[in-house]
Amino acid sequence: MNPLRKAVVPVAGLGTRFLPATKAQPKEMLPLVDTPVIQYVVEEAIRAGIDSIVLVTGRGKGAIENHFDVAYELEDTLRRRGKQEDLNLVRDITHLAQFAYVRQGEPLGLGHAVLCARHAVGNEPFALLLGDDVFDERDSALDALIAAYHATGKSVVGVQEVPLEHVSRYGIVSAPQDGSDAWDVTAIVEKPKPADAPSRWAVVGRYVLEPRIFEHLAALEPGVGGEYQLTDALAILAREGRLVAAPIPAKRFDTGNKLDYLKANVEFALKRDDLRADFGAYLKALAQDL
Ligand code: G1P
Repeated sequence: MNPLRKAVVPVAGLGTRFLPATKAQPKEMLPLVDTPVIQYVVEEAIRAGIDSIVLVTGRGKGAIENHFDVAYELEDTLRRRGKQEDLNLVRDITHLAQFAYVRQGEPLGLGHAVLCARHAVGNEPFALLLGDDVFDERDSALDALIAAYHATGKSVVGVQEVPLEHVSRYGIVSAPQDGSDAWDVTAIVEKPKPADAPSRWAVVGRYVLEPRIFEHLAALEPGVGGEYQLTDALAILAREGRLVAAPIPAKRFDTGNKLDYLKANVEFALKRDDLRADFGAYLKALAQDL
């Protein structure tokens, strides 16, 4: 089995749920405390052993490329001012991984975004991380998928159980056949109505995919709104008996959702040594007045 070295991160989405903040900046650059969401996602991939990141970008996403690039003027200024700690913080981002960028010219859906990365990935398995989903940084969400991939050699979707009223926001997989850690997916449906959902197990933005997914993506017919759905290609893998679901044990925040974004900021701040005491005291005092 090929080792897993590469990750694809689609970042071409418009971020309309966060207007006006995303009018002139990518939604992926919105911070959790002081670090852009995209950096948490990239760091999660790196902690899981990935060393090469392919970002699928689009117009107006230049700030993401700059974030992972050398910032010469800033570094020079920090060096001259003797701000070594800040300098390290800025420089370390550049050395996180090998970065490659491909453009998705038109917003034709997640399946199309992944297909845009085909030549950058080549004929090897890869992790796919969706930038809106951020997991508690103490856990590595990808680890659960990679373990299932090594155990089965099949493509893996990371899943979590969601309330029935939320199934229409996600790709939903068939229920586990037994109490096992990971299970063979026999069906996967994109954003079903609660009555049509095969279970409450939702795909939550983490995947390990075999390169054959590209063949299925390339053969897809566009779905609703002319978009190519990744889930339709995953459904073909499921029919071939080559798709596994692995539950992710880490706490998840959908940072594309305002309430979850605020919760993530609060929880990530409370984990920080420099903020926990003062911010915690502030929240306690605030809560008393609610
Ligand atoms: C996408 C996928 C969906 C998945 C979700 C996870 O939907 O199409 O299958 O469950 O990401 O966040 P989107 O959130 O882009 O509408």
